[in-house]
Order: sequence, then structure tokens, then C-alpha cells
Amino acid sequence: MINQLQTIQKECLEAIKNCQSLADVEKVRVEFLGRKGKLPILLKQIVGLSDDQKKEIGQKSNQVKQDLEKNLNNKIAELEKESIEEELKNEWIDVTQPSLNPQKEGHLHPLTQVQKTVEDIFISMGFMVLDGPELESEYYNFEALNIPSWHPARDIQDTFYVKSQKSLKSKVTMDVGKENTNRLLMRTHTSPVQVRTMQKYGAPLRSIFPGRVFRNEATDACHDHTFYQVEGLMVDEDISVANLIATMQTLLKEIFEKDVKVRLRPGYFPFVEPGFEVDLSCVFCNGKGCRICSNTGWIEFSGAGMVHPNVLKAGGVDPEKYSGFAFGFGITRLVMMKYGIDDIRLLLNGDLRFLRQF
Ligand code: FA5
Repeated sequence: MINQLQTIQKECLEAIKNCQSLADVEKVRVEFLGRKGKLPILLKQIVGLSDDQKKEIGQKSNQVKQDLEKNLNNKIAELEKESIEEELKNEWIDVTQPSLNPQKEGHLHPLTQVQKTVEDIFISMGFMVLDGPELESEYYNFEALNIPSWHPARDIQDTFYVKSQKSLKSKVTMDVGKENTNRLLMRTHTSPVQVRTMQKYGAPLRSIFPGRVFRNEATDACHDHTFYQVEGLMVDEDISVANLIATMQTLLKEIFEKDVKVRLRPGYFPFVEPGFEVDLSCVFCNGKGCRICSNTGWIEFSGAGMVHPNVLKAGGVDPEKYSGFAFGFGITRLVMMKYGIDDIRLLLNGDLRFLRQF
């Protein structure tokens, strides 16, 4: 029987070695150790043996059984480990691989991109970036800017007035300025923020005010009813037109990343004296003359001038001590120039096919 036991042990160990799967191991266990397995069947013969033989065979069979169980368990552990490793190999995810169904990333609107560039340039020159209300009072939009009610300049900018002023008054808390001119309107330019800022911060002062403005006018390729402007204001002792030109030149050189010439022509705005139209040398033909600049070599860029004493006074600044320059240009037009866009209406109509190009 000892020989038979050893044969069973050898066969079983050989079978365990050849197992490829957990199912194979189970099969081997049943074949050798199961109720009708080779070892239990052999042990049934023990009844006919002497007591000494029973003892010897009993001990030996226990050793064999323990050895086989140990080997079966080791094989199970080995196969489980292999299966986990195999699973890990097959299910490995490369997290650096681009998605098969990528989410489209958004980006800033070209107007916002250019506005941020402009803001950074002015911040580097020590300017603050401030905001003002889009719903504005007649006082700040006109009166405080030296445009009284009888002034013909009010007709230059067609205004969206807000009708139900009474109901608005209860909902909107804002400083409307002088009582007799407190009708509300959608601001037609960013210039009202000049006075609000002087009132708040006094002089000396340097700040820009980017923002949205509204005009009740028919739209075409160059004009929209809603567009963006950047207003600039610098107030200090001894500020002159030279400071205005230097500031404009720095701004335009940074934006277009090349030297751009600046030219001033007389221009009329009631809130500046003298007033100018600022032109820049055409960035498309470098001033040689092309279709975009109508062969003049110059492109209109901004309104500007030295702040009118009445406006300084409205802002609480002493015109005897301080002077200042102000300018206001359209960011919308700047974006058109920078990217060669030929219709202003493309910028705010929300067409993603257009916007995805920037
Ligand atoms: C003004 O709005 C003055 N407040 C600018 C100013 C500020 C002058 C400070 C002096 C001192 P104007 O109406 O020209 O000026 O508008 C300024 C800029 O806004 C124009 O040069 C142009 O770029 C842009 N703009 C004017 N009307 C429209 C429009 N309908 N659509 C798009 N951009 C416009």
C-alpha cells in the first residue's frame, strides 16, 4: 500500500503541475482527494490490515493528503495571481491617450482675447482697469461730459432710452447724478466712466474702462447697435498731448507687434478740448496704401483729446491744477483689423462656425 500511496502522490503532483486553470485544479482534487477519489478508495483497503500496518499507513496517508492539499492550494494561488496579472495586462488603460470621443474645449471670444491683451498693456503702464454701469443716467452719459440737453451732439449718438423709469427706479440702485437729468438710458459710450472715476478716486489718476455700449442705429458691415469700447483717462499735473501720443503708440505697437505710426487730426467731441481723431498707419500695407485703408495709408482708430475743464470740474478735479487726456476706441473694430474680419455683425451673432476659428 505504501507503494500505491507513493504512486498516487506522484501522479497527483504531476497532474497539479500540468493544471492550466482553476477548473483543472478542481478536477485533479476530485480525481485524487474527492469522496470517490483515488486516495480515499485506496484507504478503504486499510480495514483488512493489522493494527501496526493501519498505524503506519494511516500516518503515511495523512502526510500524502496534507502534501497534496498544500500543493493544490499553492497551485490555486499561483493560477489566481497569473489570472490577475493577465487581467491587469488586458485591462490596462493608457490615461495619456487622447479620447476616441474628445470633448470640444471652449475658448475665449476674440473680443475678450483682444480686450485682455489691451488690459495687460495698460496695466504694464500703471493704469487701473475699471468698470461702469451699462444702464446709465442721462447726467453721466451727456450732461457731466459737457453735453447739455440742447446740445446738438446728443443727436450724434442715437440713444436707447429706458421707458418705464418709475418701475426701474424701485429695482435699480444707482447714482444718477443731478436730479433734473436722471432719465435712464443704455450708455452710448464708455466716456461716462471718466467722471464716475474722477469722483471716486480724484487726481492724479490713470485708468482704462473697457465695456459694452449701445447705439440706436442701423447696422451694416462696419456698424453694430451693440459693440465694445475701451476708454482711457490720465489726469495729473502737466499732462499734455505728447503723453497721449506716446500712450497710443505703445498700445498699438504691442497689439500689432510692430512699429505703428500714429497721426492726430482735429476732431470734435464736447468733452475734450482740443479734440482729435487718432489714425494709425495701415497695418495691412504698412502705410503704402491698399483696399482696406482706401489707399490713404491710414486707418481711423480712436477719438481722443485733452479733458475739457468742465468735465474735470464735474469729476471734482481742479482744472487749474490738473490736466488730462482721454481716448475712446472700439475694440470690435480693433478685432476686425487684427484678424481681417470684414463684417462686424459676425462678432456678436454667436455663430460657432465663425468663433471656432479664433
Ligand atoms: C466716442 O464714443 C467717444 N466717447 C470717444 C472719445 C473718448 C473721444 C474720449 C474723445 C475722448 P465715437 O462715437 O467716435 O466716439 O466712437 C469711438 C469708437 O467706437 C469709433 O472709433 C469706432 O471704433 C467705434 N464705433 C462707433 N460707432 C460704432 C458702431 N456703430 N459699431 C461699432 N463700432 C463703433
